[in-house]
Amino acid sequence: MKNTIKYNVQLEVFNDLNDLSSEDKELITRAKEILKDAYAPYSQFYVGAALRLNSGEIITGSNQENMAYPSGLCAERVAIYYANSAYPNKTIKTIAVVAKAKNFEIAKPVSPCGACRQAMAEYELKQKEPIRLIMAGGNDEIYISESIENILPFMFNEIGLKKT
Ligand code: THU
Repeated sequence: MKNTIKYNVQLEVFNDLNDLSSEDKELITRAKEILKDAYAPYSQFYVGAALRLNSGEIITGSNQENMAYPSGLCAERVAIYYANSAYPNKTIKTIAVVAKAKNFEIAKPVSPCGACRQAMAEYELKQKEPIRLIMAGGNDEIYISESIENILPFMFNEIGLKKT
């Protein structure tokens, strides 16, 4: 007898920025503003992330590359690691991610890489509250996921590793 495990991923799709709340619009604006500080001379693909803490404060981050390529870090992890190192007791409500490429038009909202999903999902477990994710790209389309878990089904989650 064979069983099946099925996951269902659902995203909200918006075609007009004005259909978003003013708080969500502000996060996208802040993520776009930080694109200019991305250090991406190798890929020339610039990513900005802006997250809102439960205190209302907004933290931003951009991708930071390195000539030793794997030493670089994505915008999402720059922002989320900074938020958790500076404000370990605050929770993250929402994170917005935007991208811009020097040499081509980005057709779809940027979707976080697997490593960033895993990193964000762990903070979601830590804070016991979902982190909303807003994905925006070159055009007007916007995707919203109500949690990180939603876009990382069957994540690595081994609580036995936790010592404290
Ligand atoms: N990048 C991000 O910052 N976030 C992602 O979710 C995907 C990729 C960065 C890493 C690298 O600097 C550049 O985009 C090209 O992969």
